[in-house]
Amino acid sequence: MEIGIDKMGFYTPHMYVDMNKLAVARNDEPEKYTIGIGQEKMAVPPITQDAVTLAANAAMEILDEADKEKIDLVIFATESGVDHSKAAAIYAHHLLRLNPRARAIEVKEACYGATAGIQLAKGHISLHPDRKVLVLGSDISRYGLHTPGEVTQGAGAVAILMSANPRVMVLGKESAYHTEDIMDFWRPLYSKTALVQGKYSVEKYNSFFKTVWEDYKKKTGLTLKDFAAICFHLPYTKQGLKALRLVIDEGTAADKERLLAHFEVSKQYNKIVGNIYTGALYLSLLSLLELNTDIEDGARIGLYSYGSGAVGEFFSGILQPNYREYLHVRHHRKMLSERNEVSVQEYEDLFNQELPADGSDIDLPVENDPAPVLLSGIKDHMRMYINKDQS
Ligand code: CAA
Repeated sequence: MEIGIDKMGFYTPHMYVDMNKLAVARNDEPEKYTIGIGQEKMAVPPITQDAVTLAANAAMEILDEADKEKIDLVIFATESGVDHSKAAAIYAHHLLRLNPRARAIEVKEACYGATAGIQLAKGHISLHPDRKVLVLGSDISRYGLHTPGEVTQGAGAVAILMSANPRVMVLGKESAYHTEDIMDFWRPLYSKTALVQGKYSVEKYNSFFKTVWEDYKKKTGLTLKDFAAICFHLPYTKQGLKALRLVIDEGTAADKERLLAHFEVSKQYNKIVGNIYTGALYLSLLSLLELNTDIEDGARIGLYSYGSGAVGEFFSGILQPNYREYLHVRHHRKMLSERNEVSVQEYEDLFNQELPADGSDIDLPVENDPAPVLLSGIKDHMRMYINKDQS
């Protein structure tokens, strides 16, 4: 039986800040941000969006009533969760009106969480081929104003519907993975922003890539010539390029040209959204699948997932016949092109807006956010969500 990605949704908030303007405000050269880091725009979330709402907005565009009936497992991957106990998956399950006869759980391992969800989904579907699994990867990336990590922030979510006989991509059974206890990036329970040893995190991302790539080649006998493209976890787009360059000389001139050209396509969405942490690899895959003009059915796509702390994994998938027909390219282009630019001052004000931390109630300005699913406030310590499309 073949198992993999049947549908892919994506959501990012309606506001962004221009990286050239952020560079000027931080007394940096704009080329450092746009070339050295490789980012052009960075998504800015309003206070009415959190990991739950971003994920529900991403899933709403792809699920029909038949999917909702067949989903019996929701796996919500996030490192910006909203509760230490209750799974974000349960809020999403409710907002999406999914079948109550389902399991709903949250998983965490930094930016690797959604990949863990996908691999767990494969196991579940192999036991129950008639069921579907909804994997959500949703995050708001926050390092803090005036920090080196600031240029690698962002916000957004991917929703991946996993099934037997998928229409977009069949995932291979073989996979290479690696875990090591390191402190390259983490967020203690008391902190709203991530702590990071930036250069060390880049080094570990790269060394984990080399480890799992070597293991994958040994396990499968595949080499660069077998891949139409390789997608990377993209905390910022230059990071993926750094990793690709580590192995590119293993290929012929034609392999190099093909893989570098497709890497350019795979970074287009990420460079105008920013780091969406656990969804970032799948945003890059979406960018590749929706924007390429020459990748045929049957092509193999490599996927490198990295979550600080750290876990890395390399796996791959085969594109299915007419895969383009099952993507939502027009919807995504419209969403990205209709976003509003905010000034650096407005971005800073939005960054500094916070929900009460003392248990008090709040009503949020829902009229300012065009998204269907929103956080409308907090009452008696409970988060209040609304889905405008269902009210
Ligand atoms: N024109 C062109 N390029 C320029 C430039 C200019 N005027 N000025 C600087 N650059 C280049 C630099 O040469 C450098 O390029 P290389 O990396 O290829 O050498 C690049 O711009 C960045 O410059 P710096 O290294 O000086 O930047 P920095 O010290 O401000 O830090 C960073 C960069 C470490 C990535 C920092 O932004 C950071 O800590 N980010 C968060 C951590 C992160 O994203 N780590 C990635 C791996 S971990 C992971 O993937 C998990 C996750 O999601 C967090």
